[in-house]
Amino acid sequence: MISEKINLGINGSPEIPGDKSISHRSIIIPSISKGICEVSNCLDSDDVKNTLKAFVALGVDINKKNDKIIIKGKGLNSLKEPRSDIYLGNSGTSARLLTGLLSSQNFNSVLTGDESLSKRPMKRIVDPLSEMNAKILTNNNKLPIQINGQKLTNRDIEIKIPSAQIKSGVILAAINTKGISRIVEHNITRDHTEIMLRAFGADIFVKKDNSKKIITIKGKKELKSQNIEVPCDLSSSAFFIVAALINQNSHIVLRNININPTRDGILRALKKMGGRISLNNKRFYNNEQVCDIEVESSELKGCDLEPDIAKLMIDEYPILSIAASFATSPSIFRGLSELKVKESDRLKLIDLNLKNCGVESKIVDDDLFINPSKNYLIKRNTIQTDFDHRIAMAFAIMGSKVGPLQIEDSESIKTSFPTFKSEYNNIGGNIC
Ligand code: S3P
Repeated sequence: MISEKINLGINGSPEIPGDKSISHRSIIIPSISKGICEVSNCLDSDDVKNTLKAFVALGVDINKKNDKIIIKGKGLNSLKEPRSDIYLGNSGTSARLLTGLLSSQNFNSVLTGDESLSKRPMKRIVDPLSEMNAKILTNNNKLPIQINGQKLTNRDIEIKIPSAQIKSGVILAAINTKGISRIVEHNITRDHTEIMLRAFGADIFVKKDNSKKIITIKGKKELKSQNIEVPCDLSSSAFFIVAALINQNSHIVLRNININPTRDGILRALKKMGGRISLNNKRFYNNEQVCDIEVESSELKGCDLEPDIAKLMIDEYPILSIAASFATSPSIFRGLSELKVKESDRLKLIDLNLKNCGVESKIVDDDLFINPSKNYLIKRNTIQTDFDHRIAMAFAIMGSKVGPLQIEDSESIKTSFPTFKSEYNNIGGNIC
């Protein structure tokens, strides 16, 4: 894929697909609930398709009708032993959430993934589940994972790494475990699992205690299905938000975007940098807050972001780094260790590709320093992505300012935003 410099601004109202995190949960939770669920606006991307195929392999009746996904759930213990290994492609969310869910089922299963997912750490989910007596074998703490499903023991579990995937995997194990489990989260992360389970009637209670969150779950309560309207994805929106901010004569409106406060760090950061962003028409879809986001070209200044905000915007650092590259002063983004274990080592790739685009960048420990350039002298116009969709999309936006940039292995974009290129070109982007 080649992203060329644009002359005019970014203008219009692009369609943003359904939120990836909520789409995964919209398949997983109805599949273990009782009743029929119609899911609207579910993200139709490779990652979510892999979750859907996994539940079909686990015996759940799932069909598509018009644009909706119809899931006929039969309850907490209605899943069937799969006939073969479950392949999850590139999707870390599917791998961590399914490990938790399947560890309390009364059958065995094996989870596998693509080359990138097979390199990602799984000990982080296996360890807390083992405290509940789960029996899981890994390949040196990586996939393939073999789960010997059985009755688990309720426990008080501390989530030590700031990760919604780990927390959600443990919650999905606890809802099928007799007794009360308490899950303590020291760093608040995205809470879509808690919100959806509560709407489906789970005995799940959340108490906030300063920066700590205690989630109490009384297991074995059957869940009751209900229809879900998936809001649009803020992480996918962020690429177009930054494109509009950094290009002159731009004005876009993005509709029905999820602004769950555990996910909105990117909006807070860009506003702190001087971004002209307004959130209009705030409302709720299935207890998730949504709004319409209006963005205009802005003169951005650099900013210093503390580690605390990282978990509220962990997926947005690649595109935030592009915004910082066109600010009027330097930026420091602190505490980014988790970026090293995403679909790629994102910290390394952001730094490498920024340098190739003539931006001064350096990593000190887990902090990223970006000093915007005055002339953007391209040293190498090929962007290395290591098949990471968010690196590919972020540097496609960079190409609009300093291109042409050739984005390697850009087919990875299908994992989260299959329509990225056409939507971007419709509002003024120049990608072929
Ligand atoms: C996700 C949680 C985040 C995020 C990922 C989706 C989820 O991962 O990076 O894209 O849906 O729970 P971690 O929780 O591991 O940080």
